[in-house]
Formats: sequence, C-alpha cells, structure tokens
Amino acid sequence: MNEVRVGVIGCGGMGQSHMGIFKDLPRLKFTAASDSMSANLDKVVTTYGVKGFSDGHELIKSGLCDAIIIATPHYFHPEYAVAALQQGLHVLTEKPVSVNASAARRVNDAAAKRPDLKYAAMFQMRTVSRWKKVHQIVASGQLGEMRRFHWTATGWFRTQAYYGSGSWRATWAGEGGGILANQCPHNLDLVYWITGMPKRIHAHLKLGRYHDIEVEDDVIAYFEYPNGATGLFVTSTGEFPGSDYFEIAGDRGKLTFTHDGKIDLTLTDGSIAEFCKTSPGAWSSPTSSRMTIEPPAGGGGHKDVWLNFIAAILDGTPLVTPGVEGLHSVEISNAMILSGLTGKTVDLPTNHAEFDDLLRGLIRKSKKSTTLPPGL
Ligand SMILES: NC(=O)c1ccc[n+]([C@@H]2O[C@H](COP(=O)([O-])OP(=O)(O)OC[C@H]3O[C@@H](n4cnc5c(N)ncnc54)[C@H](O)[C@@H]3O)[C@@H](O)[C@H]2O)c1
Repeated sequence: MNEVRVGVIGCGGMGQSHMGIFKDLPRLKFTAASDSMSANLDKVVTTYGVKGFSDGHELIKSGLCDAIIIATPHYFHPEYAVAALQQGLHVLTEKPVSVNASAARRVNDAAAKRPDLKYAAMFQMRTVSRWKKVHQIVASGQLGEMRRFHWTATGWFRTQAYYGSGSWRATWAGEGGGILANQCPHNLDLVYWITGMPKRIHAHLKLGRYHDIEVEDDVIAYFEYPNGATGLFVTSTGEFPGSDYFEIAGDRGKLTFTHDGKIDLTLTDGSIAEFCKTSPGAWSSPTSSRMTIEPPAGGGGHKDVWLNFIAAILDGTPLVTPGVEGLHSVEISNAMILSGLTGKTVDLPTNHAEFDDLLRGLIRKSKKSTTLPPGL
C-alpha cells in the first residue's frame, strides 16, 4: 500500500477544514464522506467528487476506505471508532476521544484487539513547537521532580452566538459538557503529556456563568500528584482578553511561558530541596542560570497530525498522538465535572459508573434535550 484511502465522518466545520488540508497530503486519497445532514454532505460530495453516505456505518462498511477521520459531535466518536476498528480500518478521531471515560475505555479495548491498526486522536497541540519544547525540557529531567504546575488557559472566549451555532452545542445530551468537553481536551491532553496523571482533583465549576447555557463555561481545579506535587488549572470561555500562562516548578528550577511564545527557564545548580535542608544561610538561595528560549514560530497543527498518522500507517512511524492516550484527558475532565457538581474531592481513575450516572441524571433533568446519546 502506498497511499491511504480516507473517509470523513462528520462534514461540518472541522470535517471540511480537514478536507481543505488533504490537497497538501501526497499519500492520502479522499474517497468518501458521511454526514447525517444532507446539506453538508451534498456540498462535500459536489465539491470533492467523493462517494457520500448519510450513515457513517455504511461508509465504514463500504470498502472504499482504509482509514477514517471522525469529526462528528462528541458522543458519536467512540461509536464510530469501535465500528471502524472492528471493520479493520485505521482511525483518527477528533477530540475528545469520548465524553465519558467508560466509552474511551471501550475504544481502547477495541484498539487493543487490533494492534495492526493505527488509532490516533487529533491533539494537534502536541505538534506545536513551543509545547514540544516544554515537553522535551520536562521529560529530559532538567527541571528535576515536578513540585507544582499552574496553567491559566482562558484564551477560549466564545459568544452566545457560537453556542447557538449548533443544537448539540453546550448541552449535556449533545456535547456532554462545556469548555471541558470542547475546548479543553487540548489543554488536558498537554497536562497529561507534560505532567503525567494526577491522583486526585478538586474542582469548582460554574454552569452558564457567562452564557445562557446549561453546561460549564468557567472552571478552577486543584490537582494532586502521586509524588505530592500540586497543580492549578483555570479556564473560561467568558473572559477577554484570554491568558495562556503556564508555569511548572521542579526540584531543579522553573519553566514559564506566556502569550509571547517565549520560554523562560531557570535551572539551579543542584537540588532545591537539598539546598533548603543543608544551606547554613538564613536568607540564601540556590545559584542558578536563567535563559530565554524562543521555539521556532509557527509549525505544528492539524497537518502535522495527519502526516504522522499517514506515516504511521504506511511506514510504521510511531504515533505522536495515540488515541489510547485520549482516555487520560477524559479521565481528568470527568473528575473535574464529578468534583465540581458534587463538591467532593475525586480520586483518579474516576468511578466510571458514578460519572455515567451523573451524566444521565443531568440529561434527564435538562431543559434542552433529555434523549440519552449513544454510549450512555
Ligand atoms: N482539533 C480541533 O482543532 C477542533 C476544532 C474544532 C472542532 N473540533 C472537533 O470536531 C468535531 C466536530 O466539530 P464541528 O465544530 O465541526 O461541529 P459541526 O457541528 O460544525 O459539525 C458536525 C457535523 O457532524 C454531523 N453529524 C452529526 N451527527 C452525525 C452522525 N451520527 N453521523 C455523521 N455525521 C453526523 C453534523 O450534521 C455536522 O455536519 C467535534 O468533536 C469538535 O470537538 C476539533
């Protein structure tokens, strides 16, 4: 095989955005599309001359595709991913891999049964140069053991009109949450990728603080890690201008970056904990060196994830954004929702049955839609 025949399931904003990239991907052939809304499907079929299917399962069974991208509302991601893996297709799913961790686990189980297939998630922020650099610095151990991270990620301003742009948006039944389900899967994937998995989370959520919506649009969460490290994550779709302030403190220094894209890195000459215990000086502090790192501008994004996905299928290149790792950001998001809505501190991994019960309860009480989605 020297090219990958790709089908797109979900031909809305993001699905069509992916189609716009295909012309830059030499070893990809766009062969089929599916959408439950005929206007979107007809437009794509006419524009690209591909075969159209009103039901994504028919596309999966058509024999026209080696791989699919799933760009539907969230609850359909695991359903199509499992069906495609069982049919022998490679899968690239949009984020989040699922709304609830139990569904993400079902996809991971299906992927585990087909190790010959590639299952990836569209976590394109992992390919952005500054995040690659942060990941590389932390993973190299230069900062020493993590003690604390702090991320104020409020650059997600959205208007009421945005929430009105699709009936599935900002509903428990259609989207499965608000900012945590839609915008923050990227942030939470990076939190997992860079800091690892927390063991406990306590979160405060505001439902519809800035918008007339039933789901959360404002979150403050406190994390605890197995080694005693802590974290603070702040996000909102109601603040403008947004901030993107990230800081991680370790036993050998600190890394920060802000909107200008530069990384400010201070590395101490030894362990800070050791210095704290042994230094005779009451007011002394560790010697250190400070540097500014400017990761190359641009780079990264959806195209890089596609190139990696195609190379993984055709050349065996390791995936940069493995779909199975998408479970972690869902676990973190589910823990925040469980904590925020019950007032409890939540241990991870979450109790999947408890989260699914909570979600079903929210849907049953919803004034927007009480129909249970697939996977619940
Ligand atoms: N990675 C990114 O940067 C990024 C950016 C935006 C959106 N997204 C993700 O892309 C996905 C789609 O978001 P969007 O903004 O394009 O939404 P959208 O509403 O514009 O498009 C969704 C499309 O899916 C179709 N659809 C609904 N149910 C379907 C089904 N069962 N089978 C087939 N088609 C179905 C709808 O008719 C619609 O055309 C979401 O998961 C979202 O989180 C990712």
